Amino acid sequence: MQQATVRKAVFPVAGLGTRFLPATKASPKEMLPVVDKPLIQYAVEEAYAAGIRHMIFVTGRSKRAIEDHFDTAYELESELEAAGKQELLALVRSIQPDDMDCAYVRQPRSLGLGHAVLCAEALVGDEPFAVLLADDLMVGKPGGPGVLAQMTEAFAKQGRSLLAVQEVPPEQTRRYGIVSGVAAGGPLLRIDQIVEKPAPEVAPSRMGVAGRYVLTPRIFEEIRNQPRGVGGEIQLTDAIARLMAHEVVYAYQYEGKRYDCGSKEGFLEATVELALQHPQVGAQFREYLKGLVV
Ligand code: UTP
Repeated sequence: MQQATVRKAVFPVAGLGTRFLPATKASPKEMLPVVDKPLIQYAVEEAYAAGIRHMIFVTGRSKRAIEDHFDTAYELESELEAAGKQELLALVRSIQPDDMDCAYVRQPRSLGLGHAVLCAEALVGDEPFAVLLADDLMVGKPGGPGVLAQMTEAFAKQGRSLLAVQEVPPEQTRRYGIVSGVAAGGPLLRIDQIVEKPAPEVAPSRMGVAGRYVLTPRIFEEIRNQPRGVGGEIQLTDAIARLMAHEVVYAYQYEGKRYDCGSKEGFLEATVELALQHPQVGAQFREYLKGLVV
């Protein structure tokens, strides 16, 4: 069995974010804040909480704000220090803990998620790695581990690729990679079929893939040798289907909640629900919502 510890996480952030235009014309979708934190920071914190310290971002044009966000902000920090705003200073510094490193690679064109992951190959090397799509904001059960931490723990036990899955309404199968498989103990399903964005009539099940993966490095070879799929893009789903010819791949039914922040509806739901839980503004916001006539 190969190395069972997941040390590196890949964040593909090179998509165009067309569903959020005009906001995403010159700014990354992943920097949209839910309450007071950008989407990408939620994802990086989830990876960090899973024990991962090497963060790899696959970026594109108009994405510089992401690099700046995870870099030192000298001017801001010295201003806060001079003003004695220690709490804010600590908050700003906590974005990049000392033991975390960030690396960046460009995806020259938005050729699809599979292609974006392949761009990270040289930085990942020959070891298992996680992939987190920041526009899926994942929240673990209260007091429980985050979704990626659940998956890396499962990976440590069986060393096989894992995809986070959840049941989706039948009319939504066209938005997801859909898997079918057989129960393999606890939250695991051994996948026997995976299809990208099928129509409900032909979907093999209602198990939709959410934006969290733990993958073995063999996936790179499969992406490289793969023709373009749905929408003319190099799909990660197709590469996973090819990987299944060589290795067992599991679906992992995580505990927690997913917000599809790549869509306006999901983004608004996340904003309202996380605002209600926010220690500073939650109580006041609850009162405000109660007073709304809708
Ligand atoms: P999406 O399907 O949400 O695409 O990609 P998108 O382009 O960001 O958004 P829309 O659909 O136009 O509104 C899922 C994830 O994969 C990344 C995106 O940044 C997002 O995190 N991605 C997608 C890439 O990094 N490169 C690509 O070529 C495609």
